[in-house]
Amino acid sequence: MKTILITGGAGFIGSHVVREFVVKYPEYKILNLDALTYAGNLENLKDIESAKNYEFIKADITDQKHIQHIFETYQPDGVIHLAAESHVDRSITNPLEFVMTNVIGTVNLLNSAKSIWEGNYEGKRFHHVSTDEVYGTLGEEGFFLESTAYDPHSPYSASKASSDHFVRAYADTYGLPVVITNCSNNYGPNHFPEKLIPLCIHNILNNHPLPIYGDGKYTRDWLFVIDHAKAIDLVFHEGLNLEAYNVGGFNEWKNIDLVKELCRQMDQKLGREQGTSEQLITFVKDRPGHDLRYAIDATKINQELGWKPSVTFEEGLSITIDWFLSNKAWLENVTSGDYQHYYEKQYTAE
Ligand code: NAD
Ligand code: TYD
Repeated sequence: MKTILITGGAGFIGSHVVREFVVKYPEYKILNLDALTYAGNLENLKDIESAKNYEFIKADITDQKHIQHIFETYQPDGVIHLAAESHVDRSITNPLEFVMTNVIGTVNLLNSAKSIWEGNYEGKRFHHVSTDEVYGTLGEEGFFLESTAYDPHSPYSASKASSDHFVRAYADTYGLPVVITNCSNNYGPNHFPEKLIPLCIHNILNNHPLPIYGDGKYTRDWLFVIDHAKAIDLVFHEGLNLEAYNVGGFNEWKNIDLVKELCRQMDQKLGREQGTSEQLITFVKDRPGHDLRYAIDATKINQELGWKPSVTFEEGLSITIDWFLSNKAWLENVTSGDYQHYYEKQYTAE
């Protein structure tokens, strides 16, 4: 039986990856290691928590001794590393926390993998889950390729870029069998409501303003989270060592157009007159150092591994809204507590 350690499995993307592996690979033991920060929520995994091949371990990846102990106890064959501080706006107010988790935490995991595998790398793999934000920003044209030079601008993307460099350094220096995926913006069920799409769903439901940074012309490439989980599964099993794979939705939207599409679908689903939710759109102060445009060229993973998104954006968005409408208790739970304080600080200065 293979043992796969997934970090950050209680978070948004991690919970979908954990579910994909637990259900698809009953012959694997899936360990979900998570510190349960404000973004981690075991409610995300309620449906699989009693599966025989699943175990949750509460641990902080910055705690090197605890991480080493876990690796020695469980002897994982593979690591899929998603645990991270993930929100750009939070990184602007507290960069050091991002250095600790995203950089130091990653190096702790690399060290522990290296120490238990002891140069015997047969059947072993360290899969680092990263972001397209490491490439910086694009103008109106062009796409990020795997060969695009790193040029991060926010403390979040700088910390992720740094962690990617460490992962490659451990491959080059110690021969660690690593693979990296750099994905575009995800959306879907369980998305934490401080990110654009779930924040707007929450605010439309509660008739609160929809805060659009700057002129709203910033462009992101959106991918349905389950398609990201499937890409991770594919790369973990079939990707080549030391390679990076860009993962994207072939699906660019300017923020303002995306929010208008969201308003259209929400009005329809809530039985409100078309145009009602759009009136909530409010332009607010821009994010400092805001990257203009992200767009992934996902040709490599498509041609080499046969991956492509399985749903259109309209379908994915509809599934997402339906999920939030049927899980209002989840939404209310996570929008209390720490998030409430964050929200007050982030938006009441306007
Ligand atoms: P998230 O913030 O929803 O979840 C992060 C998880 O990591 C949480 O469960 C949290 O409790 C856990 N965590 C945080 N600090 C930890 C620590 N010190 N020790 C152990 N666990 C800790 O993030 P997400 O959106 O699911 O992103 C997951 C990964 O995917 C991240 O590495 C992120 O950089 C990457 N990524 C995200 C996106 C996106 O659009 N969300 C896109 C591309 C790549
Ligand atoms: P976000 O969901 O935070 O993801 P990222 O910064 O990683 O791309 O933001 C997506 C886009 O939406 C980004 O251009 C910032 C913008 N945005 C707003 O306009 N208003 C908001 O309240 C938030 C959270 C984001």
